Amino acid sequence: MSAFWHWFVVIITLVFIAAMVWLFVATGKARVPSGTNKEGEETTGHVWDDDLTELNNPMPRWWLWLFYGTVIFSLIYLALYPGLGNFAGALGWSSSGQYAEERAAADADFQARFGELAQLPLEELAHHPDALRVGRNIFAHNCSTCHGSDARGARGYPNLTNNHWIWGGEVDQVWHSVYHGREAVMPGFGGALDDQDVTRTAVFVQQLAGQQVDSAMAAAGRRHYDMLCAACHGSDGTGNPMLGAPDLTAGVFIYGGTMDAIRYTIRNGRNGVMPAQRDLLGEARSRFVTAYVLSLNAENNGSSNGSGDD
Ligand code: HEC
Ligand code: HEC
Repeated sequence: MSAFWHWFVVIITLVFIAAMVWLFVATGKARVPSGTNKEGEETTGHVWDDDLTELNNPMPRWWLWLFYGTVIFSLIYLALYPGLGNFAGALGWSSSGQYAEERAAADADFQARFGELAQLPLEELAHHPDALRVGRNIFAHNCSTCHGSDARGARGYPNLTNNHWIWGGEVDQVWHSVYHGREAVMPGFGGALDDQDVTRTAVFVQQLAGQQVDSAMAAAGRRHYDMLCAACHGSDGTGNPMLGAPDLTAGVFIYGGTMDAIRYTIRNGRNGVMPAQRDLLGEARSRFVTAYVLSLNAENNGSSNGSGDD
C-alpha cells in the first residue's frame, strides 16, 4: 500500500489503542464519592426518580485487567505479525509464505507416498489402479472446471474421452499437452474474405465434416480453403497436430459445427489455451493425471462422441 495508506492505518490503529487505554483508566478509577443513599452507602451523586441512586462501585479489578490484557495482546501481535500498514512484523509471517510451506509439506508427503509409482512409464500408469485413482482425483480438482467432471468437455474445451485429438493422442503428445500446455492460433479471415466467401468456405468445411451441403457453394468455398486454410488444416482437411489445427473431417467441433459457429471461427479466428501444468501441478501429479486421461481413451476406444458438436 502507498505511504499515505500505510501511515493512515498505523496512526488510526495506535490512536485507537491509546483511546482504549484512556477509557480503561478513566472508568477503572473509583470516583470521588459525592453522596450517600438512605442505607448509608457511597453513591456517585446521581439520583433518578427521587430515590434511585448509582452506587460508587468501580469495575472489578480482574475485569479491568482483562481489558488491559487485550491491549497488551494486540501490541505484541502487531509487533510480531503484519497488521500495522506495511510493517511486516518481527516474525516475517505471511499467508502466502504459510501457503508455500504447507504446499511444500503436502508435496513432500505426496512424493513420499506416490513418488516411486509416478516413475513408471505412462503406458503402465494408465493401467495401474492406484495411479488412476490418484489421477482421477487430481483431474476432479484441476481439470474438470474446463473439461467437465466426466472429461467430455464443453464448447471451447475439448472432449478428452473420444479419441479425437487436436494435438495428437500418442502418449508423448498427450503428456506434452498437459505438462507444457498448448496455445492454438487460428487467425481470423474476416479481413480477407467478405461475408459471402466466409459462408462459402464454411459450407466447404461442413462438406469436409461429412454434412450434406450445396455442392456449388462448397466448390466455391474450396477455392478459398485451398488458398487460405490448407496450409494448416491440410489439403484433405485432416488437420495438423503440430499446429493444433483440428481435423475438420471428423465431424467433431470443439467450437460447434453449426453454420454460425463455423462462420464465427473463420471470421474471428480462435485461440484456445491449455494451461501448462508444469508449475501448477508439478511432474508427479501431471504424470498421474495424464495417465488418467489416457485411460479414458482406452475405455472409450472408437466411440467419437463430440462435445459442442451441434
Ligand atoms: C495458421 C494456421 C491456420 C490457418 C491458416 C487456418 N486455421 Fe483453422 N484452426 C487452426 C487452429 C490452430 C485451430 C484450433 C483453434 C483452437 O483450438 O482454439 C483452428 C480451428 C478451426 C476450426 C474450429 C474447429 C473446431 O473444432 O471447432 C475451424 C472450423 C477452422 N479452423 C477452419 C478454418 C478455415 C476454414 C480456414 C481458412 C479460411 C482456417 N481454419 C485457417 C489453424 C489454422
Ligand atoms: C482453463 C481451462 C483448462 C484447464 C484448467 C485445463 N484445460 Fe486442458 N485444455 C483446455 C483447452 C482450451 C484446450 C484446447 C486448446 C486448443 O484449443 O487447442 C485443452 C486441451 C487439452 C488437451 C489436448 C486435447 C487434444 O485434443 O489434443 C489435453 C490432453 C488436456 N487439455 C488435458 C488437461 C488436463 C489433464 C487438465 C488438468 C490437469 C487440463 N487439461 C486442464 C483448457 C483447460
